[in-house]
Amino acid sequence: MAANTNFEKYKSDGSIPGNVLEWVDARFPATAMWKGHLSEYYAPKNFNFWYFFGSLALLVLVLQIVTGIFLVMHFKPDASLNAAGVPVAFASVEYIMRDVPWGWLIRYMHSTGASAFFIVVFLHMFRGMLYGSYRKPRELIWLFGVGIFLCLMGEAFFGYLLPWGQMSFWGAQVIVNLFSAIPLIGPDLSVWLRGDFVVGDATLNRFFSFHVIAMPLVLIGLVAAHILALHEVGSNNPDGVEIKKLKGENGHPLDGIPFHPYYTVKDIVGVVVFLMVFSCVVFFAPEGGGYFLEYNNFIPADPLKTPPHIAPVWYFTPFYSILRAMVWPILGLDAKFWGVVAMGASVVIFAFLPWLDRSPVKSIRYRGPIYKTFLTLFVIAFVILGYLGTQPPSYWGEKVSQVCSLIYFGFFLLMPWYSKVDKYTPEPERVTMN
Ligand code: HEM
Repeated sequence: MAANTNFEKYKSDGSIPGNVLEWVDARFPATAMWKGHLSEYYAPKNFNFWYFFGSLALLVLVLQIVTGIFLVMHFKPDASLNAAGVPVAFASVEYIMRDVPWGWLIRYMHSTGASAFFIVVFLHMFRGMLYGSYRKPRELIWLFGVGIFLCLMGEAFFGYLLPWGQMSFWGAQVIVNLFSAIPLIGPDLSVWLRGDFVVGDATLNRFFSFHVIAMPLVLIGLVAAHILALHEVGSNNPDGVEIKKLKGENGHPLDGIPFHPYYTVKDIVGVVVFLMVFSCVVFFAPEGGGYFLEYNNFIPADPLKTPPHIAPVWYFTPFYSILRAMVWPILGLDAKFWGVVAMGASVVIFAFLPWLDRSPVKSIRYRGPIYKTFLTLFVIAFVILGYLGTQPPSYWGEKVSQVCSLIYFGFFLLMPWYSKVDKYTPEPERVTMN
């Protein structure tokens, strides 16, 4: 009590406050921010397992930035060959792995962290789809999220070139070449992107610059906007009930509890379990069976030797499969062009979800069988596309990926129809606790 009265006094007469916090509060909204975003941010009391992944995404973001800072201390973005005939960039990664004290740990944390980031973000997005968290009034949270996802894909793509292994080199070569399929400007555009006629030193330097500064800055900005938007409208929950509609005498939602300490404690449990699994991978299986670090990438980049099978890292493979599924030239434009369009569309289409979904209820708990079937088919198609993208092209692979791409896009494009005609149970007034 006394602190508040004193606070007003210090603010008006400029006298010396009794403690550091009061001094700070008179100049910066520290306590107000703590209250607004933590101790007095009321979150629905029925959060479940699916609500761990937002805070875990934040944790992995911090992990990636911190380990990245230490990697940059020893990494050299240089494609020229050293005295032993090995590219300097590749050799600098080997140096980190073998000679820098704990360098192997930092590098494996960063490479495993990349895959962990996508696992966590995919689950986080899926939660949004389960509970209709993208629906009004949370459209902007979702749109910032889609922006984050695009940025994250860029960040991972740029980062993968840096160790300058065979997969880094040829993966970047394939992806940048895709841009040459764009009519008229394509060929010049891909030269402009690479900074050379083939992926080379100029490409490595610009990808390094994007990976360590441009993308992380945008990513951090978008994450801040994402959370500010969330705290403006309040969190959704597994019932899809708007808790702000029902407030108690104290003005707080009847179904809400302060984020701190209740959810900070809950999230710490998630963090501990996550770190246990993460450590197991980092210490015992950092290559993730060739999925987290591909075997070909332990061979230095060689522009004269194309690997027989070039596949992106697992988190790109569902989208890569959609690219490969387009095999027909349409309107005089070649199949590669339509593949690029389909791949781009398969990511951007998420942004339209808030407006495609016409169901009267948000949460899967109250939706009917049609939505549940479509969502299940979507997940199965996504997983199959992901698997096929890791495999060399084949006749049946192509056919199956075409069917799965149809299901993938059907989930989104037919949503205005099936979400409207589907049966539903009205949402309850209050959240439910099982
Ligand atoms: C770096 C990546 C990301 C971080 C750090 C992040 C962080 C968070 C945090 C801390 C929350 C609140 C806690 C929670 O609800 O779990 C949240 C909520 C949310 N996020 Fe993200 N997020 C990220 C990516 C994404 C992406 C890619 C999407 C979707 C495309 C997304 C969509 C949402 C939605 C819709 C909510 C509100 C959920 C609800 O209230 O039910 N986020 N995010």
